[in-house]
Amino acid sequence: MFSHERVIVRRGPESGLPIVVAVHSTARGQAIGGCRLATYPHWQDALADALRLSAAMTDKCALAALPNGGGKTVIALPPAGGTAAEPLGAATSPAAGIDPELRRAALRDAGLTIAELGGVYATGPDVGTGPDDMATIGERTEHVFCRPTENGGSGDSSRATAIGTVAALKAVCAALFGSPDLSGRSFAVLGLGRVGAHVARLLADADARLVVSDLDESKRSVIPGATWTNPADCRRAQVDVLVPAALGGLLTPASVAELRCRAIAGPANNQLDAPSTAARLHERGILWAPDPVVSAGGIIHATGVELRHESEAEALARVETIGDTLTRLLRSAAAEGASPAEMAARSIKI
Ligand code: PHE
Repeated sequence: MFSHERVIVRRGPESGLPIVVAVHSTARGQAIGGCRLATYPHWQDALADALRLSAAMTDKCALAALPNGGGKTVIALPPAGGTAAEPLGAATSPAAGIDPELRRAALRDAGLTIAELGGVYATGPDVGTGPDDMATIGERTEHVFCRPTENGGSGDSSRATAIGTVAALKAVCAALFGSPDLSGRSFAVLGLGRVGAHVARLLADADARLVVSDLDESKRSVIPGATWTNPADCRRAQVDVLVPAALGGLLTPASVAELRCRAIAGPANNQLDAPSTAARLHERGILWAPDPVVSAGGIIHATGVELRHESEAEALARVETIGDTLTRLLRSAAAEGASPAEMAARSIKI
């Protein structure tokens, strides 16, 4: 069933690149969701990604009890050479090495498209974009979160997303081991981008044991004391918790069969290839914390500071409530014998 309220696909007038803005739902309020700048084999893959990611934002806002709906912007960069062999025609890499002028033109094109929606949808940072990019989008529209603080925005949201993820990891440890203490527990952090690197640092500070991985070899030494592996070994690592912090779609029937972790909780959006994969995880006895719950720190912080005028401390306190939300969800799932994913789906009210 096609459930999106409105989807715009256009050739950016300045950049010539495919720009997708997907508004999934405004039933709870203004649609929000980040602007992704990534490489796709075909523009249709960027459209498919925007449709999936915007629908996930609707769930994320509802589960975080925010008065918002879901949307997403995707700017599709062509692959550097040939067609990438990724499942689902997914984004293959964040936008490294794009010409800065083309990048700015594409961001202004996204801003123009968002402006034309007249406030139905507001964007923010996502994979491949950050606060400076939000300032560029802001040249065309006021409906943009997380511009640098000196430009009047709430700045980088990745810190809040990481803090929310760690709150979720404590809730997972409490559910598994009876204590939220992270020290001595083992984690495999898959992806050391803005959010993943921050999560890994917070875990290292809490004396956790870490396996880390990224496609980019230059990240090898960013987390001192962590064991570096390739992404496939990181995914299969024998740890307490696997923390997906890169692109989505990593949990498939085939990859679930290979997992050796006890639980999965991370900030990557759309970790499951299909909703039915949650049942496979449940059957294997692997606790999966639904990503829309775990990854809500960025939107909780940005909307708190920019829309509800909360102080930094108030917004971060609200981000920490992700731990309570997840604990409640895991308890009710256990009580009903349902998977956390099933329980999350039941509790979403739009
Ligand atoms: N990338 C963020 C997410 O997936 C999107 C976002 C962050 C939107 C901050 C608005 C403000 O949740």
